Amino acid sequence: MAMLQRLAQLSRRSASLASSPFAASYAARSMSTKMTPAAAIKAMEGLQSKLDDAMQKMMQEKGDAFSKNEFYKMVDETPELKEALSKYRELDMDVEWSWARIRSMKAGPLTAPPVTVTVTGAAGAIGYALLFRIASGEMFGPSQPVNLKLLDLPAAQPALKGVMMELNDCAFPLLKSMTAADDPMKGFAGCDYAVLVGAKPRSKGMERADLMKANAEIFSVQGKALNAVAPKAKVTVVGNPANTNALIASANAPDMNPDQFTAMTRLDQTRAEHQIAEKAGVTVEEVDRVVIWGNHSASQYPDISHATIQGKWAKEVVTDEAWLKNEFIPTVAKRGAEIIGARGASSAASAANAAVAHVRDWFLGSDGRWVSMAVPAVGDFGMGTGIFYSVPVVCYPGGVYKRVGGVSIDPASAEMMEKSRLELVEERNAVAHLLPK
Ligand code: NAD
Ligand code: LMR
Repeated sequence: MAMLQRLAQLSRRSASLASSPFAASYAARSMSTKMTPAAAIKAMEGLQSKLDDAMQKMMQEKGDAFSKNEFYKMVDETPELKEALSKYRELDMDVEWSWARIRSMKAGPLTAPPVTVTVTGAAGAIGYALLFRIASGEMFGPSQPVNLKLLDLPAAQPALKGVMMELNDCAFPLLKSMTAADDPMKGFAGCDYAVLVGAKPRSKGMERADLMKANAEIFSVQGKALNAVAPKAKVTVVGNPANTNALIASANAPDMNPDQFTAMTRLDQTRAEHQIAEKAGVTVEEVDRVVIWGNHSASQYPDISHATIQGKWAKEVVTDEAWLKNEFIPTVAKRGAEIIGARGASSAASAANAAVAHVRDWFLGSDGRWVSMAVPAVGDFGMGTGIFYSVPVVCYPGGVYKRVGGVSIDPASAEMMEKSRLELVEERNAVAHLLPK
Protein backbone atom coordinates (compact mmCIF):
# COMPACT_ATOMS: atom_id res chain seq x y z
CA MET A 1 0.00 0.00 0.00
CA ALA A 2 2.95 2.28 0.64
CA MET A 3 3.59 1.72 -3.03
CA LEU A 4 0.13 2.98 -3.86
CA GLN A 5 0.70 6.16 -1.99
CA ARG A 6 4.08 6.47 -3.60
CA LEU A 7 2.49 6.10 -7.01
CA ALA A 8 -0.07 8.75 -6.17
CA GLN A 9 2.73 11.03 -5.04
CA LEU A 10 4.70 10.15 -8.10
CA SER A 11 1.84 11.03 -10.32
CA ARG A 12 1.50 14.34 -8.51
CA ARG A 13 5.14 14.83 -9.21
CA SER A 14 4.61 13.82 -12.81
CA ALA A 15 1.94 16.47 -12.95
CA SER A 16 4.43 19.03 -11.70
CA LEU A 17 6.87 17.69 -14.26
CA ALA A 18 4.19 18.35 -16.87
CA SER A 19 3.67 21.92 -15.79
CA SER A 20 7.39 22.44 -15.42
CA PRO A 21 9.61 24.57 -17.59
CA PHE A 22 10.57 21.61 -19.76
CA ALA A 23 6.95 20.80 -20.54
CA ALA A 24 6.27 24.44 -21.26
CA SER A 25 9.25 24.66 -23.56
CA TYR A 26 8.09 21.47 -25.23
CA ALA A 27 4.71 22.96 -25.87
CA ALA A 28 6.21 26.14 -27.20
CA ARG A 29 8.48 24.44 -29.69
CA SER A 30 7.59 23.57 -33.21
CA MET A 31 10.14 20.93 -33.97
CA SER A 32 11.06 19.60 -37.30
CA THR A 33 11.43 15.91 -36.49
CA LYS A 34 10.05 13.65 -39.18
CA MET A 35 8.48 11.21 -36.72
CA THR A 36 4.86 10.14 -37.06
CA PRO A 37 2.73 11.09 -34.02
CA ALA A 38 2.53 7.40 -33.01
CA ALA A 39 6.30 7.01 -33.09
CA ALA A 40 6.72 10.25 -31.20
CA ILE A 41 4.32 9.09 -28.49
CA LYS A 42 6.24 5.84 -28.15
CA ALA A 43 9.52 7.67 -27.93
CA MET A 44 8.09 10.09 -25.36
CA GLU A 45 6.84 7.20 -23.27
CA GLY A 46 10.30 5.64 -23.19
CA LEU A 47 11.90 8.94 -22.30
CA GLN A 48 9.39 9.73 -19.63
CA SER A 49 9.83 6.28 -18.17
CA LYS A 50 13.52 7.03 -17.72
CA LEU A 51 12.73 10.36 -16.06
CA ASP A 52 10.01 8.84 -13.86
CA ASP A 53 12.33 6.06 -12.73
CA ALA A 54 14.98 8.58 -11.84
CA MET A 55 12.42 10.58 -9.90
CA GLN A 56 11.25 7.51 -8.04
CA LYS A 57 14.84 6.57 -7.19
CA MET A 58 15.39 10.05 -5.84
CA MET A 59 12.22 9.77 -3.77
CA GLN A 60 13.39 6.46 -2.37
CA GLU A 61 16.72 7.98 -1.42
CA LYS A 62 15.50 11.29 -0.08
CA GLY A 63 11.87 10.68 0.85
CA ASP A 64 9.75 13.67 0.01
CA ALA A 65 12.46 16.10 0.88
CA PHE A 66 13.67 17.12 -2.53
CA SER A 67 12.66 20.02 -4.69
CA LYS A 68 11.93 20.18 -8.38
CA ASN A 69 15.13 22.19 -8.83
CA GLU A 70 17.16 19.47 -7.17
CA PHE A 71 15.63 16.96 -9.54
CA TYR A 72 16.51 19.03 -12.61
CA LYS A 73 20.03 19.60 -11.26
CA MET A 74 20.47 15.84 -10.91
CA VAL A 75 19.15 15.33 -14.45
CA ASP A 76 21.56 17.93 -15.73
CA GLU A 77 24.45 16.16 -14.07
CA THR A 78 23.54 12.69 -15.37
CA PRO A 79 24.45 12.43 -19.08
CA GLU A 80 21.88 9.72 -19.87
CA LEU A 81 19.03 11.65 -18.26
CA LYS A 82 20.20 14.92 -19.71
CA GLU A 83 20.03 13.36 -23.14
CA ALA A 84 16.56 11.91 -22.43
CA LEU A 85 15.30 15.32 -21.39
CA SER A 86 16.82 17.00 -24.37
CA LYS A 87 15.30 14.43 -26.77
CA TYR A 88 12.01 14.85 -25.02
CA ARG A 89 12.15 18.54 -25.77
CA GLU A 90 12.77 17.84 -29.43
CA LEU A 91 9.57 15.94 -29.99
CA ASP A 92 7.09 17.31 -32.43
CA MET A 93 4.36 19.65 -31.21
CA ASP A 94 1.73 17.79 -33.21
CA VAL A 95 1.57 15.16 -30.50
CA GLU A 96 1.07 17.65 -27.71
CA TRP A 97 -2.58 16.58 -27.36
CA SER A 98 -1.44 13.21 -26.12
CA TRP A 99 0.57 14.56 -23.23
CA ALA A 100 -2.21 14.14 -20.65
CA ARG A 101 -2.79 10.60 -21.77
CA ILE A 102 0.85 9.62 -21.58
CA ARG A 103 1.09 11.22 -18.18
CA SER A 104 -1.84 9.25 -16.84
CA MET A 105 -0.45 6.05 -18.36
CA LYS A 106 2.89 6.67 -16.74
CA ALA A 107 1.42 7.62 -13.37
CA GLY A 108 1.58 3.99 -12.36
CA PRO A 109 0.76 0.52 -13.56
CA LEU A 110 -2.93 0.21 -14.38
CA THR A 111 -2.35 -3.48 -13.82
CA ALA A 112 -2.78 -3.11 -10.02
CA PRO A 113 -5.71 -5.25 -8.88
CA PRO A 114 -8.91 -3.20 -8.98
CA VAL A 115 -10.53 -1.90 -5.83
CA THR A 116 -14.20 -2.84 -5.73
CA VAL A 117 -16.44 -0.10 -4.41
CA THR A 118 -20.17 -0.29 -3.86
CA VAL A 119 -22.16 2.93 -3.93
CA THR A 120 -25.73 2.82 -2.69
CA GLY A 121 -28.30 5.34 -3.85
CA ALA A 122 -26.28 5.38 -7.05
CA ALA A 123 -29.13 6.81 -9.12
CA GLY A 124 -29.66 9.74 -6.75
CA ALA A 125 -28.31 13.27 -6.72
CA ILE A 126 -25.16 12.56 -4.71
CA GLY A 127 -24.59 9.36 -6.68
CA TYR A 128 -24.61 11.38 -9.89
CA ALA A 129 -21.97 13.75 -8.56
CA LEU A 130 -19.89 10.96 -7.06
CA LEU A 131 -19.60 8.09 -9.52
CA PHE A 132 -17.76 9.97 -12.24
CA ARG A 133 -15.17 11.15 -9.77
CA ILE A 134 -14.60 7.62 -8.50
CA ALA A 135 -14.27 6.30 -12.04
CA SER A 136 -11.85 9.05 -13.00
CA GLY A 137 -9.46 8.12 -10.19
CA GLU A 138 -10.12 10.90 -7.72
CA MET A 139 -11.16 8.60 -4.89
CA PHE A 140 -8.58 5.80 -5.07
CA GLY A 141 -5.79 7.53 -6.95
CA PRO A 142 -4.86 8.10 -10.57
CA SER A 143 -3.26 4.67 -11.00
CA GLN A 144 -5.80 2.54 -9.19
CA PRO A 145 -8.33 0.62 -11.31
CA VAL A 146 -11.82 0.32 -9.85
CA ASN A 147 -14.83 -1.95 -10.15
CA LEU A 148 -18.07 -0.10 -9.49
CA LYS A 149 -21.04 -1.89 -7.95
CA LEU A 150 -24.12 0.28 -7.99
CA LEU A 151 -27.01 -0.40 -5.66
CA ASP A 152 -30.37 1.30 -5.78
CA LEU A 153 -34.05 0.47 -5.39
CA PRO A 154 -35.87 -1.48 -8.12
CA ALA A 155 -37.77 1.66 -9.16
CA ALA A 156 -34.50 3.52 -9.70
CA GLN A 157 -32.97 0.88 -12.01
CA PRO A 158 -33.99 2.57 -15.30
CA ALA A 159 -32.37 5.84 -14.18
CA LEU A 160 -29.34 3.92 -12.97
CA LYS A 161 -29.04 2.33 -16.38
CA GLY A 162 -28.80 5.83 -17.87
CA VAL A 163 -26.05 6.80 -15.41
CA MET A 164 -24.15 3.65 -16.36
CA MET A 165 -24.44 4.52 -20.04
CA GLU A 166 -22.92 7.90 -19.27
CA LEU A 167 -20.12 6.32 -17.28
CA ASN A 168 -19.38 4.04 -20.21
CA ASP A 169 -19.48 7.01 -22.56
CA CYS A 170 -16.67 8.62 -20.59
CA ALA A 171 -14.33 5.70 -21.45
CA PHE A 172 -12.55 6.05 -18.10
CA PRO A 173 -9.35 3.99 -18.35
CA LEU A 174 -9.53 3.10 -14.64
CA LEU A 175 -13.08 1.76 -14.71
CA LYS A 176 -12.64 -1.97 -15.07
CA SER A 177 -16.19 -3.17 -14.51
CA MET A 178 -19.57 -1.88 -13.47
CA THR A 179 -22.67 -3.72 -12.30
CA ALA A 180 -26.08 -2.63 -11.07
CA ALA A 181 -28.13 -4.33 -8.36
CA ASP A 182 -31.31 -3.80 -6.39
CA ASP A 183 -30.47 -6.52 -3.89
CA PRO A 184 -27.91 -5.58 -1.19
CA MET A 185 -26.59 -9.16 -1.08
CA LYS A 186 -25.60 -8.79 -4.73
CA GLY A 187 -24.70 -5.12 -4.57
CA PHE A 188 -22.20 -5.53 -1.74
CA ALA A 189 -20.79 -8.95 -2.70
CA GLY A 190 -17.01 -8.83 -2.35
CA CYS A 191 -16.69 -5.06 -2.15
CA ASP A 192 -13.58 -3.54 -0.54
CA TYR A 193 -15.19 -0.17 0.13
CA ALA A 194 -18.86 0.73 0.46
CA VAL A 195 -20.27 4.23 0.36
CA LEU A 196 -23.78 4.16 1.79
CA VAL A 197 -25.53 7.15 0.27
CA GLY A 198 -28.93 5.64 -0.52
CA ALA A 199 -31.51 7.12 1.84
CA LYS A 200 -34.14 9.83 1.79
CA PRO A 201 -32.83 13.38 2.02
CA ARG A 202 -34.66 15.82 4.27
CA SER A 203 -36.82 18.54 2.83
CA LYS A 204 -37.40 22.11 3.97
CA GLY A 205 -38.21 22.43 7.66
CA MET A 206 -37.11 18.92 8.65
CA GLU A 207 -34.30 18.16 11.08
CA ARG A 208 -31.97 15.30 10.20
CA ALA A 209 -33.30 13.33 13.14
CA ASP A 210 -36.73 13.40 11.43
CA LEU A 211 -35.26 11.07 8.83
CA MET A 212 -34.63 8.38 11.40
CA LYS A 213 -37.87 6.56 10.86
CA ALA A 214 -37.64 6.68 7.10
CA ASN A 215 -34.02 5.60 6.81
CA ALA A 216 -32.96 3.54 9.82
CA GLU A 217 -34.32 0.25 8.53
CA ILE A 218 -32.22 0.55 5.35
CA PHE A 219 -29.03 0.47 7.39
CA SER A 220 -30.08 -2.54 9.41
CA VAL A 221 -30.67 -4.51 6.20
CA GLN A 222 -27.43 -3.25 4.65
CA GLY A 223 -25.36 -3.98 7.78
CA LYS A 224 -26.54 -7.58 7.65
CA ALA A 225 -25.78 -7.86 3.96
CA LEU A 226 -22.28 -6.38 4.38
CA ASN A 227 -21.61 -8.83 7.18
CA ALA A 228 -22.65 -11.72 4.98
CA VAL A 229 -21.03 -10.85 1.67
CA ALA A 230 -18.32 -8.23 2.30
CA PRO A 231 -17.02 -8.70 5.84
CA LYS A 232 -13.73 -6.98 5.04
CA ALA A 233 -15.32 -3.85 3.57
CA LYS A 234 -14.57 -0.37 4.81
CA VAL A 235 -17.85 1.46 5.05
CA THR A 236 -18.63 5.16 4.84
CA VAL A 237 -22.16 6.23 5.71
CA VAL A 238 -23.41 9.40 4.03
CA GLY A 239 -27.19 8.88 4.21
CA ASN A 240 -28.78 10.75 7.10
CA PRO A 241 -28.85 10.68 10.05
CA ALA A 242 -25.36 9.51 9.17
CA ASN A 243 -23.85 8.84 12.62
CA THR A 244 -26.76 6.76 13.84
CA ASN A 245 -27.12 4.97 10.52
CA ALA A 246 -23.47 3.94 10.84
CA LEU A 247 -24.21 2.66 14.33
CA ILE A 248 -27.16 0.63 13.03
CA ALA A 249 -25.17 -0.84 10.14
CA SER A 250 -22.26 -1.74 12.40
CA ALA A 251 -24.49 -3.26 15.09
CA ASN A 252 -26.05 -5.49 12.44
CA ALA A 253 -22.65 -6.71 11.23
CA PRO A 254 -21.42 -8.78 14.17
CA ASP A 255 -18.48 -10.31 12.29
CA MET A 256 -17.11 -6.94 11.28
CA ASN A 257 -14.98 -4.70 13.46
CA PRO A 258 -16.92 -1.52 14.31
CA ASP A 259 -13.82 0.39 13.14
CA GLN A 260 -14.70 -0.71 9.61
CA PHE A 261 -17.65 1.71 9.77
CA THR A 262 -17.44 5.49 9.62
CA ALA A 263 -19.95 8.26 9.05
CA MET A 264 -19.10 11.30 7.03
CA THR A 265 -18.54 14.67 8.69
CA ARG A 266 -16.03 15.77 6.08
CA LEU A 267 -18.51 18.15 4.50
CA ASP A 268 -18.83 19.93 7.84
CA GLN A 269 -15.04 20.12 7.98
CA THR A 270 -14.69 21.66 4.53
CA ARG A 271 -17.56 24.04 5.25
CA ALA A 272 -15.75 25.15 8.40
CA GLU A 273 -12.40 25.46 6.60
CA HIS A 274 -13.95 27.72 4.00
CA GLN A 275 -15.61 29.96 6.59
CA ILE A 276 -12.38 30.35 8.54
CA ALA A 277 -10.24 30.94 5.46
CA GLU A 278 -12.63 33.61 4.25
CA LYS A 279 -12.72 35.34 7.63
CA ALA A 280 -8.92 35.30 7.93
CA GLY A 281 -8.37 36.32 4.30
CA VAL A 282 -6.22 33.29 3.53
CA THR A 283 -6.53 30.33 1.19
CA VAL A 284 -8.13 27.11 2.41
CA GLU A 285 -4.85 25.17 2.22
CA GLU A 286 -3.46 27.56 4.81
CA VAL A 287 -6.07 26.43 7.33
CA ASP A 288 -5.26 23.22 9.16
CA ARG A 289 -6.64 21.11 12.01
CA VAL A 290 -10.21 22.34 12.08
CA VAL A 291 -12.14 19.67 13.97
CA ILE A 292 -15.77 18.59 13.77
CA TRP A 293 -16.92 16.97 16.99
CA GLY A 294 -20.06 14.94 17.43
CA ASN A 295 -23.08 14.50 15.25
CA HIS A 296 -23.52 15.47 11.60
CA SER A 297 -26.42 17.67 12.67
CA ALA A 298 -27.10 21.11 14.07
CA SER A 299 -25.65 19.95 17.42
CA GLN A 300 -22.17 19.39 15.95
CA TYR A 301 -19.25 21.42 17.26
CA PRO A 302 -16.94 22.89 14.62
CA ASP A 303 -13.86 23.65 16.70
CA ILE A 304 -10.89 25.85 15.83
CA SER A 305 -9.19 25.63 19.25
CA HIS A 306 -6.46 23.42 17.77
CA ALA A 307 -6.48 24.88 14.28
CA THR A 308 -3.69 26.79 12.63
CA ILE A 309 -3.78 29.47 9.97
CA GLN A 310 -0.54 29.93 8.04
CA GLY A 311 1.12 28.00 10.87
CA LYS A 312 -0.13 30.37 13.61
CA TRP A 313 -2.80 29.42 16.12
CA ALA A 314 -6.15 30.18 14.50
CA LYS A 315 -7.45 31.72 17.70
CA GLU A 316 -4.63 34.26 17.55
CA VAL A 317 -5.58 35.15 13.98
CA VAL A 318 -9.37 35.09 14.25
CA THR A 319 -9.87 36.89 17.53
CA ASP A 320 -13.49 37.90 17.03
CA GLU A 321 -15.07 35.63 19.65
CA ALA A 322 -18.57 36.94 18.94
CA TRP A 323 -18.21 35.97 15.27
CA LEU A 324 -16.94 32.52 16.18
CA LYS A 325 -19.82 31.87 18.55
CA ASN A 326 -22.70 33.58 16.78
CA GLU A 327 -21.79 33.18 13.13
CA PHE A 328 -19.13 30.60 12.46
CA ILE A 329 -20.54 27.72 14.51
CA PRO A 330 -24.21 28.17 13.53
CA THR A 331 -23.33 28.75 9.87
CA VAL A 332 -21.43 25.47 9.66
CA ALA A 333 -23.88 23.50 11.79
CA LYS A 334 -26.92 24.72 9.86
CA ARG A 335 -25.39 24.90 6.41
CA GLY A 336 -27.29 21.83 5.21
CA ALA A 337 -30.61 23.55 5.94
CA GLU A 338 -29.41 26.79 4.34
CA ILE A 339 -28.60 24.90 1.16
CA ILE A 340 -31.93 23.10 1.15
CA GLY A 341 -33.59 26.52 1.54
CA ALA A 342 -31.64 28.00 -1.36
CA ARG A 343 -31.59 25.04 -3.76
CA GLY A 344 -34.83 23.40 -2.82
CA ALA A 345 -32.77 20.21 -2.56
CA SER A 346 -30.16 18.82 -0.25
CA SER A 347 -26.47 19.46 -0.94
CA ALA A 348 -25.22 16.99 -3.51
CA ALA A 349 -22.01 18.00 -5.30
CA SER A 350 -20.36 19.20 -2.10
CA ALA A 351 -21.48 16.03 -0.30
CA ALA A 352 -20.00 13.92 -3.11
CA ASN A 353 -16.79 15.94 -2.89
CA ALA A 354 -16.60 15.26 0.83
CA ALA A 355 -17.18 11.54 0.25
CA VAL A 356 -14.34 11.49 -2.28
CA ALA A 357 -12.03 13.18 0.24
CA HIS A 358 -13.12 10.96 3.14
CA VAL A 359 -12.57 7.67 1.31
CA ARG A 360 -9.46 8.90 -0.51
CA ASP A 361 -7.78 9.75 2.77
CA TRP A 362 -8.90 6.48 4.34
CA PHE A 363 -7.44 4.55 1.39
CA LEU A 364 -4.33 6.59 0.56
CA GLY A 365 -3.64 8.31 3.89
CA SER A 366 -4.12 11.89 4.95
CA ASP A 367 -0.41 12.81 4.81
CA GLY A 368 -0.38 13.58 8.51
CA ARG A 369 -3.31 15.99 8.28
CA TRP A 370 -6.12 15.80 10.79
CA VAL A 371 -9.43 14.93 9.21
CA SER A 372 -12.78 14.50 10.94
CA MET A 373 -14.77 11.28 10.74
CA ALA A 374 -17.55 9.92 12.88
CA VAL A 375 -16.17 6.67 14.31
CA PRO A 376 -17.18 4.36 17.14
CA ALA A 377 -16.81 6.19 20.45
CA VAL A 378 -14.25 4.51 22.69
CA GLY A 379 -14.71 6.45 25.89
CA ASP A 380 -12.15 9.19 25.28
CA PHE A 381 -13.16 12.86 25.61
CA GLY A 382 -15.90 11.75 28.00
CA MET A 383 -18.12 10.57 25.17
CA GLY A 384 -18.79 7.07 26.43
CA THR A 385 -19.34 4.25 23.97
CA GLY A 386 -22.17 2.92 21.82
CA ILE A 387 -22.44 5.92 19.51
CA PHE A 388 -20.63 7.11 16.39
CA TYR A 389 -19.02 10.42 17.29
CA SER A 390 -16.97 12.64 14.98
CA VAL A 391 -13.37 13.13 16.11
CA PRO A 392 -10.11 14.14 14.47
CA VAL A 393 -8.17 11.22 12.99
CA VAL A 394 -5.05 10.79 10.90
CA CYS A 395 -5.28 8.23 8.09
CA TYR A 396 -2.50 5.96 6.89
CA PRO A 397 -2.27 4.25 3.50
CA GLY A 398 -4.25 1.05 3.22
CA GLY A 399 -7.40 1.88 5.14
CA VAL A 400 -6.01 2.62 8.58
CA TYR A 401 -7.06 5.57 10.71
CA LYS A 402 -5.87 6.56 14.15
CA ARG A 403 -7.69 8.89 16.48
CA VAL A 404 -5.73 12.00 17.39
CA GLY A 405 -5.01 11.65 21.09
CA GLY A 406 -4.05 14.12 23.77
CA VAL A 407 -6.23 16.93 22.47
CA SER A 408 -6.97 19.34 25.29
CA ILE A 409 -10.59 20.40 25.66
CA ASP A 410 -11.55 23.68 27.30
CA PRO A 411 -14.80 23.96 29.31
CA ALA A 412 -16.73 25.79 26.57
CA SER A 413 -15.78 23.10 24.05
CA ALA A 414 -16.67 20.34 26.49
CA GLU A 415 -20.14 21.82 26.83
CA MET A 416 -20.68 21.90 23.07
CA MET A 417 -19.35 18.35 22.72
CA GLU A 418 -21.62 17.07 25.45
CA LYS A 419 -24.69 18.57 23.74
CA SER A 420 -23.93 16.58 20.61
CA ARG A 421 -23.22 13.43 22.61
CA LEU A 422 -26.61 13.66 24.29
CA GLU A 423 -28.31 14.03 20.93
CA LEU A 424 -26.55 10.92 19.66
CA VAL A 425 -27.61 8.97 22.73
CA GLU A 426 -31.18 10.10 22.10
CA GLU A 427 -30.94 8.97 18.47
CA ARG A 428 -29.55 5.64 19.59
CA ASN A 429 -32.44 5.17 21.99
CA ALA A 430 -34.89 5.89 19.20
CA VAL A 431 -33.48 3.03 17.10
CA ALA A 432 -32.86 0.58 19.95
CA HIS A 433 -35.14 -1.95 18.23
CA LEU A 434 -32.65 -2.09 15.31
CA LEU A 435 -29.60 -2.66 17.48
CA PRO A 436 -29.20 -6.36 18.21
CA LYS A 437 -27.64 -6.98 21.61
P1 NAD B 1 -31.65 11.39 -3.57
O1 NAD B 1 -33.06 11.27 -3.15
O2 NAD B 1 -31.31 12.23 -4.73
O3 NAD B 1 -31.06 9.95 -3.85
C1 NAD B 1 -31.21 8.91 -2.94
C2 NAD B 1 -31.10 7.62 -3.71
O4 NAD B 1 -31.10 6.58 -2.75
C3 NAD B 1 -32.28 7.38 -4.64
O5 NAD B 1 -31.79 7.00 -5.91
C4 NAD B 1 -33.04 6.27 -3.98
O6 NAD B 1 -33.72 5.43 -4.89
C5 NAD B 1 -31.90 5.55 -3.26
N1 NAD B 1 -32.33 4.69 -2.18
C6 NAD B 1 -33.31 4.87 -1.27
N2 NAD B 1 -33.41 3.80 -0.46
C7 NAD B 1 -32.46 2.94 -0.85
C8 NAD B 1 -32.07 1.65 -0.43
N3 NAD B 1 -32.70 1.02 0.56
N4 NAD B 1 -31.04 1.04 -1.07
C9 NAD B 1 -30.41 1.64 -2.08
N5 NAD B 1 -30.75 2.85 -2.55
C10 NAD B 1 -31.77 3.49 -1.94
O7 NAD B 1 -30.83 11.85 -2.27
P2 NAD B 1 -29.35 12.42 -2.19
O8 NAD B 1 -29.41 13.90 -2.36
O9 NAD B 1 -28.46 11.64 -3.07
O10 NAD B 1 -29.02 12.19 -0.64
C11 NAD B 1 -28.85 10.89 -0.13
C12 NAD B 1 -28.66 10.92 1.38
O11 NAD B 1 -27.45 11.61 1.72
C13 NAD B 1 -29.76 11.66 2.14
O12 NAD B 1 -30.08 10.94 3.32
C14 NAD B 1 -29.10 12.98 2.51
O13 NAD B 1 -29.71 13.56 3.66
C15 NAD B 1 -27.71 12.52 2.79
N6 NAD B 1 -26.68 13.57 2.80
C16 NAD B 1 -25.67 13.44 3.73
C17 NAD B 1 -24.66 14.37 3.77
C18 NAD B 1 -23.55 14.25 4.78
O14 NAD B 1 -22.74 15.18 4.86
N7 NAD B 1 -23.42 13.19 5.55
C19 NAD B 1 -24.67 15.45 2.89
C20 NAD B 1 -25.70 15.54 1.96
C21 NAD B 1 -26.71 14.59 1.92
C1 LMR C 1 -25.98 18.45 4.58
O1 LMR C 1 -25.33 18.68 5.58
O2 LMR C 1 -26.00 19.21 3.59
C2 LMR C 1 -26.79 17.17 4.49
O3 LMR C 1 -26.68 16.43 5.67
C3 LMR C 1 -28.18 17.39 4.07
C4 LMR C 1 -29.01 17.93 5.20
O4 LMR C 1 -30.11 17.39 5.39
O5 LMR C 1 -28.59 18.86 5.85
